Amino acid sequence: MERHLFLFIPRDGDPAFVAPEMYDEQIREASWVDDLRLWADGEDPMELVAELADEMDLRGGRLLLDDTMWALFTQDLRETLPDATLSLASGVFDDLRMRKDEAELAALRKAGRLADEVSVEIRKLSEAAIGLTETELADEIDRRLAEGGGEDVSFETVVGSGPNGAMPHHRHGDRDIRRGDPVVLDFGAYVDHYPGDQTRTVVFAGDPSEEFEAVHEVVRDAQQAAVEAVEPGVPAEEIDRAAREVIEAAGYGDRFVHRTGHGVGLDVHEDPYIVEGNGLELEPGMVFSVEPGVYLPGEFGVRIEDLVAVTEDGCERLNDSPRTWEPL
Ligand code: CO
Repeated sequence: MERHLFLFIPRDGDPAFVAPEMYDEQIREASWVDDLRLWADGEDPMELVAELADEMDLRGGRLLLDDTMWALFTQDLRETLPDATLSLASGVFDDLRMRKDEAELAALRKAGRLADEVSVEIRKLSEAAIGLTETELADEIDRRLAEGGGEDVSFETVVGSGPNGAMPHHRHGDRDIRRGDPVVLDFGAYVDHYPGDQTRTVVFAGDPSEEFEAVHEVVRDAQQAAVEAVEPGVPAEEIDRAAREVIEAAGYGDRFVHRTGHGVGLDVHEDPYIVEGNGLELEPGMVFSVEPGVYLPGEFGVRIEDLVAVTEDGCERLNDSPRTWEPL
């Protein structure tokens, strides 16, 4: 929200919140931090920040900021603490977060299974999905994710039917699903604080075009080639190349308009990014998506996505629902 809310975590000593008074109870319920400096509407929160800065000796110090902090708050910190050095916390944490421990992998596996289960249930709607709008189908997916134990959706569920599937960032709208339509289904939910993220491109009923069938096979082969390329020591960009080579060979290279994948952890998009130019060598415990796609504007799109975890000698897929397009 627009009200200033900071959590200061010193290198040594106890953390402290500077927060709007109205969040008092909520913060105490959600965290174990005892030190709350509360400000009321009409008061200046930066006065509390200045006090805290003296106590924690921050004035000439180095502050690592949350990347997604409001620019408004950052600006006020700059003015209140002109001699402090501000940089991004991601510079420190991104590297630490890339390799998942066993508890994190267990949560990611659960999130993967939930996405798989809902994907299969939704595809079994078959004829019953015809005539639903994308939004109605997205609501149904979200409802089942919640019912299956999902804490929250990982991102706004994608249902891209027919030509809408050709826009990789289309979410869902009022277009209704028709017989023979390719439909991109990209969704997931958090389980134990870790997100799922899976994509299948399917047909609920009827016959799609021949070109769709051909493109689907190309994308599926590309995804398979990329997954097979995953092993420790291989640079991240090699995984992107493995997918891209298959799609280029089939003549659709210019229609694969995004990177092959992104890391997944506490955030659904984090390091390592599977993209040309990223020479980072894969290590056991890294988890990322492998999601090549081909997008034909005005016609359809195809994307197939699984999360994989790098193991000692290859990788483990965290998603394993059928990668076919045919009705289940
Ligand atoms: Co993804």
